Amino acid sequence: MGHRRRSRTTRARGQEDRKIGEATPELPASGIGLGHTRWATHGGVTTHNAHPHLDCSGRLALVHNGIVSNYRELREPLVRSGHRFLSETDTEVVVHLIEECLAQTPAGAEQLVTATMTAFRRLEGLNAIAVLDVHSGQLTAAKSGSPLVLGWSDHGRMLASDYSALLEHTRRVTFVEDRQAVLLAGETCRVFDADTGRELTPRITEVEWEAAATELSGYPDYMTKEIHEQPAVLRRLAAGWGGHARQLAAMLADAPDVFVIGCGSAWHAALAAQYLLARIAGRRVTVVSASEFPYLRDFVTEGAVVVALSQSGETIDVIEAARAARDRGARIAAMVNVEGSTLWRLADLTVPLGAGPERCVLATKSFTAKLAIWLMTAHALIGRAEAGATLVRDAADEIERLLAGGPRDAIRQIAEALYRHEHLFVIGRGPGYPLALEAALKVKEVSYIHAEGFAGGDLKHGVIALIAPGSPCLVLAPRDETYDDIMSGAMQVKARGGMLIGMSPEPHEAFDYHIPVADLGPAAAIVNAPPAQILGYYLALLRGHDPDKPRNLAKSVTVK
Ligand code: F6R
Repeated sequence: MGHRRRSRTTRARGQEDRKIGEATPELPASGIGLGHTRWATHGGVTTHNAHPHLDCSGRLALVHNGIVSNYRELREPLVRSGHRFLSETDTEVVVHLIEECLAQTPAGAEQLVTATMTAFRRLEGLNAIAVLDVHSGQLTAAKSGSPLVLGWSDHGRMLASDYSALLEHTRRVTFVEDRQAVLLAGETCRVFDADTGRELTPRITEVEWEAAATELSGYPDYMTKEIHEQPAVLRRLAAGWGGHARQLAAMLADAPDVFVIGCGSAWHAALAAQYLLARIAGRRVTVVSASEFPYLRDFVTEGAVVVALSQSGETIDVIEAARAARDRGARIAAMVNVEGSTLWRLADLTVPLGAGPERCVLATKSFTAKLAIWLMTAHALIGRAEAGATLVRDAADEIERLLAGGPRDAIRQIAEALYRHEHLFVIGRGPGYPLALEAALKVKEVSYIHAEGFAGGDLKHGVIALIAPGSPCLVLAPRDETYDDIMSGAMQVKARGGMLIGMSPEPHEAFDYHIPVADLGPAAAIVNAPPAQILGYYLALLRGHDPDKPRNLAKSVTVK
């Protein structure tokens, strides 16, 4: 979504001069524009269900993030009064509602924003909307729950749900708060309280990320770039960000109870943290997938600490869980990558991941950054923060080695042996168990091979029934207390004709393929992640998929 003055020149790093708003082969010349990428939450993936949605006259175009939970109640009276609906979406209701409100609002400079706010007040659910009026050339927006960021560039004003989309133009942003509305009209930009209509003074923040950090910089895709950025991210964390690990350790040290929550890869990082804290610091924490947290939140008591992990800081399940915990008297620590995101702002203590923009839908560098911070936090809890930082530096060196030509090519050859398979099993024990879950997630979400991670000890409790001759099984076998047991599980797979891919410091005669990773003790969890990322990457390429944009997935999961 955006509003820009016409024909002004800007220069993005590494690009030639170009004129904003100037005609391109794809787009007509305009000083204003509106666009959206969104997976359908209501109705099929059809052109009619795609955004933007228009009102009856075609005067208003609207894009929307979120779910209007009362859309059925709103739709019926609109249909009765003659509004024509073309889609099955909840979104289309909003544009017709604004059309209706517009007709009842006195004409004037604030007519569109007033009508937008009136309609917005009737929406239930977590939503962000932006509306373009083609008559007046005005653009309005409003939000509650879903993210919305306003960018202030010398060349115009723009809105997006994620500020990395604006970085090419500006680092000066306003994080629009819940129940606020924005009006972009010509050169002016105004912010309002959507409930009272009162005008507010916007707070402008300069974010740290640079536009250059979002460029491919010679890499073929963002997944490769972000996998390769891991050593630098880890070294940066070890050098300076350990300070945040110390603060987190201090918060955990005097907490009567600690919960760690996250979704997807962030949940896997939370599970890994559970082992690291137990084994290094003898500290017990309860790990809950954020989407399951509502059903367990009664256990959260006054003074408990909830550590919420999220790359985007906008995952709705994580935000709602953190808010619910805070309402029960918990203190919230957030380990989050995107500065200024909702989670970043709501936390009592923010621990930045410092991973820089992560554009590929898959979590890679943000995952290992979380593990690094947990490793340092666990060491800080026993007064040995520096030892944690040293391990993180060692992990950075080892990942650099793994990413070099030889080891990477070896993983590509393994991918060539695997890519026609439809199933992959991954086993690990102890901290290797969450890493097995993460390795399986990486493979399945980008290559669409059905991959499942298991605790090695669970094989005999059912999973082994699935092993047939040739079934591939990735075995995470670091040289720690889990080694003998995980190898005994691996041998059972082998005995049933399974194909073993061992990830371990030394080869083993049972391995059909071996991915050597250094023996790094408690940092094994960090160094076991990148080989699985690389494996998933090559499997995706070999199966003809775009590694940056897997089907059906979004980078920020802002709806339930
Ligand atoms: C997996 C992946 C997802 C995210 C999950 C949480 O590669 O990217 O599983 O980890 O959607 O996202 P954040 O960390 O933004 O809360």
